[in-house]
Amino acid sequence: MALVPMKQILEEAKKKGYGVGAYNVNNMEQIQAIMAAAQETQSPVIIQASRGALKYSNFTYLGYLMKAAVIENPTIPVAMHLDHGNSLDSAKKAIDLGFSSVMIDGSLKEDGKTPSDYEYNVNVTRSVVEYAHKYGVTVEAEIGRLGGIEDGVGSGSAHITDPKEAEQFVKDTGVDALAIAIGTSHGAYKFKGAKVLAFDVLQEVRKLIDIPIVLHGASSVPKELIDAVNKYGGKMPGAEGVPMEHLQKAIQLGVQKINVDTDGRLAMTATIRKVFTETPEKFDPRDYLGPARTALQGLIASKMKAFGTAGHAGDYAPMSLEDMKKIYNK
Ligand code: G3H
Ligand code: 13P
Ligand code: ZN
Repeated sequence: MALVPMKQILEEAKKKGYGVGAYNVNNMEQIQAIMAAAQETQSPVIIQASRGALKYSNFTYLGYLMKAAVIENPTIPVAMHLDHGNSLDSAKKAIDLGFSSVMIDGSLKEDGKTPSDYEYNVNVTRSVVEYAHKYGVTVEAEIGRLGGIEDGVGSGSAHITDPKEAEQFVKDTGVDALAIAIGTSHGAYKFKGAKVLAFDVLQEVRKLIDIPIVLHGASSVPKELIDAVNKYGGKMPGAEGVPMEHLQKAIQLGVQKINVDTDGRLAMTATIRKVFTETPEKFDPRDYLGPARTALQGLIASKMKAFGTAGHAGDYAPMSLEDMKKIYNK
């Protein structure tokens, strides 16, 4: 088994200067596609489930599918991560299920919509850190606020991270990885005008904090996928993402974790639409979920290469949560 604390995956990436994608999952085909891409490219990987995903699939079903990914891929370091946890309770549930990492997103209140203040964020984050570290589990938190709103997650108002506040927040909470807001947003419609990211803010944060940095809302929304979705009956005018060169620059400047959900959704949707359009007689779910899984594998493998993750699966001996517990308790 190579279930590892996310902290190890990210610190190894930080040492060597590459990025690791954290890919959102809701179902079996997505998990299989991501793991096949990790095998193909020999990449460490983070599979993450949002609260929405865990609700949709049912906590136990999705948790066990993620565990199956670990069992089936013993030579790949895998972190099972809770994306956008909203409370100590949501973190506890994920840890009980065997997750090796949790995010507590205290930039928003428990409803996942209302912007919170610094004090709220510190208090809820600290409570999760205290709990999770007892189990050797990694904690990611967020300072600043992403723009956009996706399926009820997000306030709709952006707030670029203040580097000094980020520095203080790390000291106040003891968190393992920090998500910052530099102009990305969740979903398929990220930019109305110029695709500008606050790289100066990222550079400043990198100077002030020593823990891994996380970029949410990092899908590229590739034009060819949008074109395919639209060609086969979809309607996604004006969809825009973060160009891969921007992500590569962010990695160079010190980002380690890159969150990707939307692009995976697009790859599967484009493929399923194509199958339905070109072969309307098909009705076996395997006839469209199978090709969708293959398309997703290709997309993720290309990201693993572009982020520099490829080839690093065997670089280090996987740590267990027990090993990490000892480090936290020193
Ligand atoms: O944070 C946003 C992720 O894309 C998860 O989205 O809440 O619709 O599963 P979701
Ligand atoms: P995208 O919507 O850009 O894929 O971002 C996903 C994300 O940040 C999940 O937490
Ligand atoms: Zn996110």
